[in-house]
Amino acid sequence: NCKWVSVLLAEELPVGQMIGVEIEGLRIAIFNVKGAFYATDNICTHAFAVLSDGWFEGNVIECPLHGGKFDVCSGRVLGEPPERDLRTYPTRLLGEEIQIALP
Ligand code: FES
Repeated sequence: NCKWVSVLLAEELPVGQMIGVEIEGLRIAIFNVKGAFYATDNICTHAFAVLSDGWFEGNVIECPLHGGKFDVCSGRVLGEPPERDLRTYPTRLLGEEIQIALP
């Protein structure tokens, strides 16, 4: 059973923006892709880098350290050097609040 947690208001995260949050000890990045919200781990799977310090365009986050790329919707690696996909978290809107499901 997962637990839904409010992370921020939808109006705080415009289209094309991302933000890093820390919830219950997890570092999570929230992305707005064309009005839909996605959440992934905020730490790169390659080495220690905070993805929300990188570059986000369309549905792609580029790691600031070695330029690895991930699809924020699926977590899939799109560009090396990372080999492991990013963990993703389900999201939903509850009124104006963006919520994510924690394991
Ligand atoms: Fe992200 Fe190396 S730490 S690509």
